[in-house]
Amino acid sequence: MNIFVQMWRSIFRTGVSDSHLHRVFRVVANFVLHIQPPRVSKEGIKFTYTFCLGGLSLFFFIVTAITGGFLMIYYLPDVDMAYSSMKDLDDIVPFGSFQRNLHRWAAHLMVLLVPLHMLRVFLTSSYKPPREFNWVIGVGLLVTTLLLSFTGYLLPWDQLSYWAVTVGATMGENTPILGAKGPFSILGPEQDIHFILLGGTTIDQPTLIRFYFAHCVGLPGAAAGLMAIHFWRIRKAGGISRPL
Ligand code: HEM
Repeated sequence: MNIFVQMWRSIFRTGVSDSHLHRVFRVVANFVLHIQPPRVSKEGIKFTYTFCLGGLSLFFFIVTAITGGFLMIYYLPDVDMAYSSMKDLDDIVPFGSFQRNLHRWAAHLMVLLVPLHMLRVFLTSSYKPPREFNWVIGVGLLVTTLLLSFTGYLLPWDQLSYWAVTVGATMGENTPILGAKGPFSILGPEQDIHFILLGGTTIDQPTLIRFYFAHCVGLPGAAAGLMAIHFWRIRKAGGISRPL
């Protein structure tokens, strides 16, 4: 057997028969070819029903992931090097400033588009059964998107980063129950959410490395996992909803 045919069949194991039934089976068994449901309503796929807000959120997530990978090649998560590595990206690295701006704008657009997508889902009542669990997954995606933005803020290690994260972390410190200075506090200053967030009591190297890991590995991984469930649930609900 031809080596390429053998390789193809080792990936898509559907047998060799070429009957009509077998062709249908091949499409149904293939996730990529069968990602759309067999029937979709005309009104549901109209641009003015979804404004493609979910699809655009996905598109800008992919843009941030690709440009973020490029930035990771040059950025150094070290308190003495972080700022100068960002400046190198701006001034020396070919297309560095372009990649940095693409990353920043795509991230800003995600923060804008995800709540708009949420609003569209709400206004078209698409959170109702059988899509209520996907609304919950969506809330997870909204929180992850905002946390991605927050953790990325510290990485340039300039004055803006430092004070923005100081404000965020101090809010954590004053959170009810979980913050050491908040109402109904149950945790001490070395156990509360502020301490966990900063890896200490002040913003320093442990904070930078925590935020770097969360921003480049933890949160993108969580977002990708949640998106996989999000799209699988849309498919299982029979595709996008339709106007009532
Ligand atoms: C990174 C964030 C997100 C991405 C990439 C995303 C992606 C998508 C896509 C591509 C669709 C198909 C329809 C469309 O384009 O509008 C969709 C539908 C849906 N999304 Fe999202 N979404 C995100 C966040 C959210 C949020 C924050 C919520 C709500 C809390 C949500 C709830 C839903 C629901 C319930 C549906 C089904 C709507 C229907 O059938 O009409 N999603 N999402």
